[in-house]
Amino acid sequence: MTESPECTKKVMVTGAAGFIGSHLVDALLEEGCQVLGLDNLSAGIMDHLESAMQNPSFRMEKADMVSDDLSPFLSGVEEVYHLAANPDVRSGAHDTRSHFDQNIVATYQLLEACRGTGVKKVVFSSTSAVYGETESIPTRETEPLSPISIYGASKAACEAMIHAYCHQFEMAGIIFRFANVVGDRSTHNVLHDFIRKLRDNPRELEVLGAEPGTCKSYIHVQDCIRAILKGSSAVQEGVTAYNIGTEDWTFVKDIADIVVQEMGLNDVDYRWTGGVKGGGGWVGDVRKMLLSTELIRSRGWAPCLNSQQSIRQAVQEILASKK
Ligand SMILES: NC(=O)c1ccc[n+]([C@@H]2O[C@H](COP(=O)([O-])OP(=O)(O)OC[C@H]3O[C@@H](n4cnc5c(N)ncnc54)[C@H](O)[C@@H]3O)[C@@H](O)[C@H]2O)c1
Repeated sequence: MTESPECTKKVMVTGAAGFIGSHLVDALLEEGCQVLGLDNLSAGIMDHLESAMQNPSFRMEKADMVSDDLSPFLSGVEEVYHLAANPDVRSGAHDTRSHFDQNIVATYQLLEACRGTGVKKVVFSSTSAVYGETESIPTRETEPLSPISIYGASKAACEAMIHAYCHQFEMAGIIFRFANVVGDRSTHNVLHDFIRKLRDNPRELEVLGAEPGTCKSYIHVQDCIRAILKGSSAVQEGVTAYNIGTEDWTFVKDIADIVVQEMGLNDVDYRWTGGVKGGGGWVGDVRKMLLSTELIRSRGWAPCLNSQQSIRQAVQEILASKK
């Protein structure tokens, strides 16, 4: 490991074995931090931490944030990066309890443990879904939060708790509202859905929604990780919310085209399901999403890839990992 003067602190990453969490672990280790990873492995995969596990500065704990006492893990920890969650927006339409438990209760448990153990900074992975179907596009951080999914509502509730805990117990809070994050180690999103369907039937692709589908911003996980590091280091007190995304957006139809091209297919028929509530893929699906990223850009961050480049690179990475 290369020792870096930038970071000698001890940090905790929840959801460490997940898609974004495992990349964040790698990046924090690269910065020279002592990293404690925590995950209940409900969706996380230990293979994602293969490289981290070789590093003496990394320790992994299997624990459930809803049912376990988190205080013992926080001894000596200065900063917590809280990424553990149920991130599946669609599941909220039939299971309203899971987002309440895995997102709201888990965050409450963590904040309770943080306030008693001297944690100085809480970094939280929120989502563009907190804004709901806003007409104010690109959406700024100051826009009211009007979520239309249980997932978005649960994240908005977490944000509110972080505000209050940081104010009352003198911690700094950094909230990142991510656009759709894509890339290596992801396990569930539209790219996986299309790849799986096209492997089953290379002639026809069922697409949720009405043509050309929802229009949203996508960001590659490596750009996302750089934003987390840059945005977090810029805040030492108070609570700051940052949007993290690219400056452009893309239709689902364009994503399907990219997947078809990257899989080397031709003449694929797209079968649109028609969608719900004016063309969304499912109940709770926001139809248009583009975030204003002026604030994080003012801290010196910019993405390397735009939405379509992020999607193309992610498709290549997923296909390479599934060979
Ligand atoms: N991927 C995206 O496009 C996206 C977009 C916006 C926000 N986010 C947020 O970013 C974070 C990471 O998302 P991801 O895509 O990496 O998801 P992921 O499912 O890959 O990772 C979440 C991790 O949390 C763990 N976990 C879940 N419940 C837990 C519990 N009770 N105790 C301990 N561990 C638990 C899971 O095992 C998993 O490893 C989430 O908070 C998600 O809501 C993701």
